[in-house]
Amino acid sequence: MGKSPARVPAFLPVRGAPLSGKRVSPLARPWYETIFDERYPELFGPLERDPEEEVAKILGLLSLPPGATIVDLGCGRGRHAIPLSRRGYRVTGVDLSEKMLGLARARAQREGASVEWVREDMRKFIRPGAFDACLSLFTSFGYFNDEENERVIGNVSMNLKEGGALLLDLRNVQKGLAGEEDMETEVRVPSGRLLLRVRFDRDSRRARAEHELTRRDGIRISSAFDVRIYSEEELTGMLRRAGMRVAAVHGSLDGAPFTPGAERMVVIAKRE
Ligand SMILES: C[S@@+](CC[C@H](N)C(=O)[O-])C[C@H]1O[C@@H](n2cnc3c(N)ncnc32)[C@H](O)[C@@H]1O
Repeated sequence: MGKSPARVPAFLPVRGAPLSGKRVSPLARPWYETIFDERYPELFGPLERDPEEEVAKILGLLSLPPGATIVDLGCGRGRHAIPLSRRGYRVTGVDLSEKMLGLARARAQREGASVEWVREDMRKFIRPGAFDACLSLFTSFGYFNDEENERVIGNVSMNLKEGGALLLDLRNVQKGLAGEEDMETEVRVPSGRLLLRVRFDRDSRRARAEHELTRRDGIRISSAFDVRIYSEEELTGMLRRAGMRVAAVHGSLDGAPFTPGAERMVVIAKRE
């Protein structure tokens, strides 16, 4: 599925309490360990853009040498990793979810694509100086508390070669602060009706979302997320502390200007 069926925010995907306010047992596993499974393509697929087009745009934003080494952190089912490998890059896809990696492996095998798939937590993935670029796409950053999110940035910096680039494709916190992220909408998708509820909490600066799909046969499936949305200033500080500097901030992968109302916040940072 290509473009979003309606003007819905390019989703985002934490811990947590569903929006209904139901209590979650302190022993419950965090959301990011449970929701990325076979339901994901149905619940989020309709909000994804065309990955081939996104790969072309990403390569336009980064100047990568032929055959560069790229790590896709939170690669999911390989939407970007596979097209990148087809273009001759040496790609490593890292993801915590065995189910998502299973989908990625199966597709890569079908298409004869060569990608290294690694099942690892981004808070622990360390391969010093191994990569020319690191990609974090479709809001795959911000899932943890501030300390752990910062550890992810620290790992990325360590894993990049000197001069290597990080591209973060994130939600735009300005929209959250302006109340533009809060919404409840229903969109028609091939398998039924998808209800999307998003609330931005100004205090925690986390976006919480629920996606509920009612399939044509009446069966309902749902997911709930909770992601920390950082400002440009916060990210700049975090990146600087990790030995990186911000090279550009765009409002989308198209390279649009980053404004308070921009669709996304796309940050490109370089390892010093
Ligand atoms: C929103 S999806 C995006 C996937 C992919 N980037 C895309 O655009 O299709 C986020 C991905 O991050 C993965 N993920 C969640 N927590 C993770 C963690 N702690 N370490 C590594 N990957 C994680 C999920 O399994 C999921 O595949």
